[in-house]
Amino acid sequence: MNVLGIVGSKRKRGNTAALIKEAIRPFEEAGDTCEIINLGSLSFDGCHGCEACATTNRCVIKDDMQPLYKKIREADALVLGSPTYFYDMSSDMKKFIERCYCFCTFHKDDRSLWYSEFEKGDPKYAGVIAVCEQKTADNLGYTGVSMRDGLISLGFRNVFLQGALHAFKAGEILADQDQMALAYTNGVALRGTVLLARS
Ligand SMILES: Cc1cc2nc3c(=O)[nH]c(=O)nc-3n(C[C@H](O)[C@H](O)[C@H](O)COP(=O)(O)O)c2cc1C
Repeated sequence: MNVLGIVGSKRKRGNTAALIKEAIRPFEEAGDTCEIINLGSLSFDGCHGCEACATTNRCVIKDDMQPLYKKIREADALVLGSPTYFYDMSSDMKKFIERCYCFCTFHKDDRSLWYSEFEKGDPKYAGVIAVCEQKTADNLGYTGVSMRDGLISLGFRNVFLQGALHAFKAGEILADQDQMALAYTNGVALRGTVLLARS
């Protein structure tokens, strides 16, 4: 099995990174192929809206997203995580999801009809993790749901949406045993779902 974690925070030792690592740990323990990508270490643009991908499903922007396309295509499961920035995902995560537009194909005459290439082969699975500083869930805003809905529109089945509250300083979430345990449990559920579907 192949799982890819995508960290939407530039803080490599931040809360998002810690929770994604924990959600990936069940895959690691089982000997699966695992990789965690820090979007903050990459140089890439948001979607240019050029529509060059419309007939090819290939993005023409030559930047650090290119190697990621192959990794996404090869993954059985993705775990996306982002800090809450003003009630929504980080700009890096937004750029990442925008750039996945190339996986979609629209009907040439009726753009209300469209599908993602991931709806054609083996189903892919996902989970999302949102982290914010404040203590109540309303402060997460759209962070988790917009990542989840983006993934769903890309043909993924989303297995979990974890919202972690009250974590401000980088790595502070490591002391939150409930959230760390939940991230691990969510990883177990994601892996179990893929296994069941592939059995
Ligand atoms: C630009 C910016 C905007 C933020 N907006 C919010 C917010 O709207 N609500 C909130 O609760 N926390 C907000 N925060 C706090 C972060 O979500 C919080 O520190 C989070 O744990 C950071 O995750 P990281 O360690 O993975 O970077 C913001 C932080 C920054 C830098």
